[in-house]
Amino acid sequence: MGKNTVTIVNNATGQELELPLMTGTHGPATVDIGSLYSKLGIFTYDNGFKSTASCQSSITFIDGEEGILLYRGYPIEQLAEKSNFMEVCHLLYYGELPTKEQYSKFSWMITRHSMINESLRDFYHGFWHNAHPMSIMVGVVGALSAFYHDSLEIDNPRHQEIAAHRLIAKMPTIAAASYKYSIGQPMVYPQNRLSYCENFLQMMFSVPASEYEINPLHAKALDLLFILHADHEQNASTSTVRLAGSSGANPFAAVSAGIGALWGPAHGGANEAVIRMLEEIRDVSAIPKYIARAKDKNDSFRLMGFGHRVYKSYDPRARIIRNTAHDILKTTSGNDPLLEIAMRLEEIALKDEYFIQHKLYPNVDFYSGIIYKAIGIPVNMFTVLFTIARTIGWITQWKEMMSDKERVIGRPRQLYTGAARRDYVPIERRS
Ligand code: SDX
Repeated sequence: MGKNTVTIVNNATGQELELPLMTGTHGPATVDIGSLYSKLGIFTYDNGFKSTASCQSSITFIDGEEGILLYRGYPIEQLAEKSNFMEVCHLLYYGELPTKEQYSKFSWMITRHSMINESLRDFYHGFWHNAHPMSIMVGVVGALSAFYHDSLEIDNPRHQEIAAHRLIAKMPTIAAASYKYSIGQPMVYPQNRLSYCENFLQMMFSVPASEYEINPLHAKALDLLFILHADHEQNASTSTVRLAGSSGANPFAAVSAGIGALWGPAHGGANEAVIRMLEEIRDVSAIPKYIARAKDKNDSFRLMGFGHRVYKSYDPRARIIRNTAHDILKTTSGNDPLLEIAMRLEEIALKDEYFIQHKLYPNVDFYSGIIYKAIGIPVNMFTVLFTIARTIGWITQWKEMMSDKERVIGRPRQLYTGAARRDYVPIERRS
């Protein structure tokens, strides 16, 4: 038996199979079970893919026990402190931090693609004005493929790059337009003289009737939040983008599928759900009641913003965001009562035996909503901002999947537990 193998024994039949053990740069070794069904006639079962590596990737690495997050090898703490979102987009997509020349070329490319086709603006008017902005994002982003036939040769690296530039560049414009449509205000065009986050803020909040002054602190806070949300290995929405893309669907359709997955409250929708939860708790005195509910197996209530499939220690992004939440609130209307409740909730939860035992720590969504709220972002736009930030992660993971020489359509199997084979019964004989 080789050192770099794992032997599977089917005790029911006595069959044995030696499988290769693969090791990466960091993280657990991975057994390649690709030949399991053909050799032993059995599948593996892994509800929620808790022990399953769906692909090989060189983009992002997470160590959930140690609370480590690396983008192309760089620690998130260093990127949060020293980099900016445009530079992180370049790092993730091209694999390296840009030189000065590469940075200015990339930033200009993104800036010049920030407008959307005028006909796309009409698309919004088909939505009910009360539509959740995420429903508009799913629809409008999916429709982009109708406008960019010049970048749909999905195996052409240049087309992949143009599609990536367009998605990164247009997401803030599409997002801000979905907000403007929902409040009946005119959509605002991007301004090339502004940075990515400044542009988003002016598209969100400026109106033709008056001057809009961008708060640099708000732009800086957004830039940090976008860095922290940019990519996160094979989370639910990224896995959705990969699976959709593996069928040969165009990148706009694949990213639209990812937006749908991100919307769920167990995933990117948690930042909106955290604020709704804090608003429901309303007062620090009510916290013990909600913690008891979160522990009650008969109650489906969960503490939004707590827990993570991978992080079984403090989410490094939450640690960074926690400090920013305090800074940003010092510059706004003083302490938001929701932050008080959030801080108290965190303090109580982290001492509670159940949370300690279940390794439930605050995740990135716990504090991000507090910051978004402090800079005036409407709550139903929180997951839309997560969408803007995660677009670079999705399109980079899509490109990596498309460039994989061993790429095949993703098609999981199942354990069938339905009715055994049976014959059709004519309706007259059914009781
Ligand atoms: C994101 O995957 C990613 O990387 C996602 C993300 C990214 O950047 O892409 O990091 C972004 O989605 C962050 C997570 C945001 N979601 C929330 O904050 C929603 C609240 N959290 C939970 O729904 C939950 O913690 C999950 C979905 C995040 C993780 O769930 P798991 O890993 O499937 O864990 P589980 O549901 O099996 O729970 C394990 C135990 C259970 O108790 P037991 O049945 O074992 O007794 O922990 C309990 C759960 O009941 N538990 C919670 C809890 N989360 C888990 N109990 C109370 N409150 C919670 N929040």
